Parts: sequence; structure tokens; C-alpha cells
Amino acid sequence: MGLAVKIQDLRKSFGGFEALKGVNFEVDEAEIFGLIGPNGAGKTTTLRILGTLIRPTSGQAEVFGHDVVKDANAVRVILSYLPEDAGAYQYLNGEEYLRFMAGFYAHEKTALEEMVQAGRDISGLGDRLRDRVNDYSRGMKRRLLIARALMIKPKLTILDEPTSGLDVIQAYHVRGMIKDYAKRMGVTMLVSSHNMLEVEYLCDRVALINEGVIIAEGTPTQIKTRYNAVNLEQAFMEATQLG
Ligand SMILES: Nc1ncnc2c1ncn2[C@@H]1O[C@H](COP(=O)(O)OP(=O)(O)OP(=O)(O)O)[C@@H](O)[C@H]1O
Ligand SMILES: [Mg+2]
Repeated sequence: MGLAVKIQDLRKSFGGFEALKGVNFEVDEAEIFGLIGPNGAGKTTTLRILGTLIRPTSGQAEVFGHDVVKDANAVRVILSYLPEDAGAYQYLNGEEYLRFMAGFYAHEKTALEEMVQAGRDISGLGDRLRDRVNDYSRGMKRRLLIARALMIKPKLTILDEPTSGLDVIQAYHVRGMIKDYAKRMGVTMLVSSHNMLEVEYLCDRVALINEGVIIAEGTPTQIKTRYNAVNLEQAFMEATQLG
């Protein structure tokens, strides 16, 4: 297995404020990796750099060996990025939306139909795909957007807070669809969350980030053992010495 993501001493300043203060972590191919931390920790900033939306102030980030700054186009081809505040076109129905988005990636009819079918299956929305996105609940919209991100079979999928704002049931479905798809397709996922308990279920390995610094990295079990904690939340408090 190769390396999907390699981040070395990544720094990002906004004006005089240093949001990332030398971030290091690696994601292996075919794993679900969680970037976990509280509000303002630097999760979205890290993911936006990997997604080639913003440039780092210094340091390196590579996606399957491609530098996100020097080789941004190569990165864009193999990566699917779902921003935390993503929306879908409200006036389309779910099916039309998947078809519209597939059109950017599939250039002949069979491939397009396969992609749309994959999107339908992943979404699990069934007949509701014929309803306008405008009438979807927040959870249904999120499922549609995640299906859109996954149906193109990216080498790396980045999901920023895929379950934020969802109730327990919808969050459960969304986690299920992510895990099921990842394990079935053997794809690599980088998922951010401030919910430290959900990532124990979802992620093979996690990095805890706080104030722009990675404070722990490993499997949830390794991290809990290291801090003698019953869950990742407690480990986080210990690691930041807030506990
Ligand atoms: N464009 C920007 N201009 C100025 N400051 C920014 C900008 N983007 C992010 N920041 C700051 O950088 C820090 C990290 O923000 P970031 O969005 O990466 O956090 P986060 O971990 O994703 O938090 P959340 O859980 O709330 O989404 C915050 O203090 C934020 O205010
Ligand atoms: Mg964020």
C-alpha cells in the first residue's frame, strides 16, 4: 500500500494569525483517516490546502505523490472534496443533480449512466431522488452530496464534517454509507469531525488537532491506551492538558 497523503510542517497564516503551526501527518492508501479537533483547530484549513483551494504559507502537502501547489491539476483529477458548507442546486431533483454533476466527469453515455447508477445506490434515497433538492431534509441533502462526491470513484475523498448538523439517525446513515462504500471499494478517505465519539466507529486512524498543531496520531485504540482514556474525547482533554 502506498501513501495517499503526506503533510510535512504545513503552515498557514491569515494576516498575522497562524492557523496551522507546522502540521504533520500521513494517510495510507485505502484507510479512513479522521482529522479531529474542536472548532477553529485548523481542520478545514488543512483540507482546503489538500483540496488545492488555498495555498499553504510554507511546508509541503502531497496527494498520491503530487504536490498540491506545484502539481495542483494532477491533484484535482484524483480527488473529490466535499466542503463543510456545500449545497446542491435546489431547483433540480436528486437524480438530475447526480446526472448534471456526472456530466463533468464522464464523457460517454455508458460511463455516465454507470456513474449516475453508482450515485443512486450510494445515496440510498430511492424514489426520493425524483423530488426536488429544495424539498430535502438536511440529512437527505448531505446523502446526495456525499453520493456525488463518491460516485466519481476518486482516489482520495475528502469530507469536511460530513455529519455536522444532522440528528442521530441521519448521522448514523451517513456514517454507514461512508464506511460501507470505503470498505467495499477500497478507497481512501480523509474525514474531519469535531465529534470525537463518532470517529471511533468510522476511522481506522485519526489525528487530533488543536490550535493548528497535531497533538496525537494513531488508531483510536492506540490513542486511548496512550492517555489511559475511555474514549477519544477524554484522550483529547488529556492530550491538551485540559482534563
Ligand atoms: N480565510 C480566513 N481568514 C482569516 N482567518 C481564517 C480564515 N480561514 C480560517 N481562519 C481561522 O483559522 C482558524 C482555523 O480555522 P478552520 O476553519 O480551519 O477551523 P476548523 O477546525 O475547521 O473549525 P470548525 O470545527 O469550526 O469548522 C480559525 O481561527 C479561523 O478563524
Ligand atoms: Mg471546519
